[in-house]
Amino acid sequence: MNIVIKDSFEDMSRMAAEEFLKIAASISHPLVCLPSGNTPIHFCRFLVDHFENIGAKPDWDFIGLDEWVGVPASVKGSCRYFFDEHLFGPLGIPEERISFFNGMATDLREEQRKAEAVIADHGGLDIVVLGIGANGHLGFNEPGSDVSLKTQVIDLEPVTLKSGESYFSGPRDMPTQGITLGLATLLSAKHLLVIANGAHKTTIVEKMVNGPKTNMLPASLLQDHKACTLYLDDAASGNLR
Ligand code: GLP
Repeated sequence: MNIVIKDSFEDMSRMAAEEFLKIAASISHPLVCLPSGNTPIHFCRFLVDHFENIGAKPDWDFIGLDEWVGVPASVKGSCRYFFDEHLFGPLGIPEERISFFNGMATDLREEQRKAEAVIADHGGLDIVVLGIGANGHLGFNEPGSDVSLKTQVIDLEPVTLKSGESYFSGPRDMPTQGITLGLATLLSAKHLLVIANGAHKTTIVEKMVNGPKTNMLPASLLQDHKACTLYLDDAASGNLR
């Protein structure tokens, strides 16, 4: 795993976005997957600024990383809402270029099948960007997740629900499950970029990089990926620098 450390959250987001754009430009119609949450805010802005500056639109196909089960796309706090607000809307991405888990689907198994089919039809994921959960999760692959799963529906840990509360605009009953691309899918991506910022991520980042490789800390499994770069700001890098 390569590690890039920049002084600020903005700088590390810019570096990651530039690398993402470089890789994406080298592939015709890449299938890309990005995380929602607080970490990718600047990253998404840099992507939008880039295409506004050059007066073009990306030729990418998007696949959603994860979604809260029981939360509609129209609700602020859903993963899909994040992308509509920060990426798909500003970039004017047409719906036919987007595949996203429907958290309201009555048949979640069908949602899983659809996502797996999109990825298989494309010949795999080209570029995946990931954030890191407080417990080391990737997407919604919580500690203990089966590494052989291509997608999964999973009960979320209390710490994930606690962090997730901040994405929603007001008090609400938090969903208890997530639907996510699985570790087998994410780990087989051709290119992986991982982003983390802030002192609240220092401990988990250190475990991810230096700790044992175990599905009890899914992010540690990225240590073995042959094309993975971790982008950190100074605060998240702790002793790594
Ligand atoms: C969330 C999402 C992940 C995200 C991670 C970190 O629960 N399921 O896809 O990358 O946790 O979120 P944040 O960037 O807000 O710290």
